[in-house]
Amino acid sequence: MILQAVEVERTTEPNVRQTVLKLEHVTKKFGGLVAVSDFNVDLKEGELLGLIGPNGAGKTTIFNLITHVIPVTEGKIEFYGKDITKLSTDRIIKLGIARTFQNIRLFSNMSVKENIMTAFHVHLKSDLFTAVAFLPKYREEEEFIQQKTWELMKEVGIEHLADHKSSSLPYGLQRKLEIARALATSPKLLLLDEPAAGMNPDETLELNQLILRIRERYKLTVIVIEHDMKVIMNISERIIVLDHGVTIAEGTPSEIQQNPLVIKAYLGVGDEDA
Ligand SMILES: Nc1ncnc2c1ncn2[C@@H]1O[C@H](COP(=O)(O)OP(=O)(O)O)[C@@H](O)[C@H]1O
Ligand SMILES: [Mg+2]
Repeated sequence: MILQAVEVERTTEPNVRQTVLKLEHVTKKFGGLVAVSDFNVDLKEGELLGLIGPNGAGKTTIFNLITHVIPVTEGKIEFYGKDITKLSTDRIIKLGIARTFQNIRLFSNMSVKENIMTAFHVHLKSDLFTAVAFLPKYREEEEFIQQKTWELMKEVGIEHLADHKSSSLPYGLQRKLEIARALATSPKLLLLDEPAAGMNPDETLELNQLILRIRERYKLTVIVIEHDMKVIMNISERIIVLDHGVTIAEGTPSEIQQNPLVIKAYLGVGDEDA
């Protein structure tokens, strides 16, 4: 086997929707500021959750807590029933959680292809020792990576740019490259932080189709952070609304749209269509 065995197991019963991610009473304080206050979520396998709220609401902080880029102040985070609250970011990625960033993070001097190839190494067994000692195995892995990289570039529609420097790509395509990089780590849970930021309506529509397609193809559970609710209205089954770190509403997109608290605290701010 080329990929490492994963330590979390899915249920064998197809009809039971297993809990993928559970956050219980998660709070994050930065000094006196409560960035996230008593946040709770129970995310089922295959679900697409929208996380919305005005700037500074605590959305990105929640992703940072799930991936343990920063520690929680209080609360517990479970992934497929396993307590991951105190695990390192590396371990969490290996268990199957991948993310993209609000401010794109790519190796700007590397080509599109190389950016994806480096992401594969998270799941590779071969270290330098095995590379030397078991050369055939190493070659097998490199071939595997080349093939999978090509597959992912095609998946997000950037294969024609394989050898271009990632920094030469327009913004929207860099975001797609980030998604391909996230997929290279074989995630079960994909966290997308404002993937449509800076995109026009056509690009956003296409991105939404891409998100739905990869969820299906790679059997993903997905959380999408969005500033503008309209962007994820059509693809989320459920939306959680944050304001100043507090969960002010949770429900289906239509419930959220009609929620007076949401309209007041969020949609009312600079959104004349609300
Ligand atoms: N590492 C940090 N140190 C101090 N304050 C932070 C840090 N990260 C986020 N914050 C603060 O926490 C609040 C929530 O930020 P963030 O989660 O980035 O909001 P959102 O993604 O919803 O726009 C903001 O007030 C922000 O300034
Ligand atoms: Mg943010």
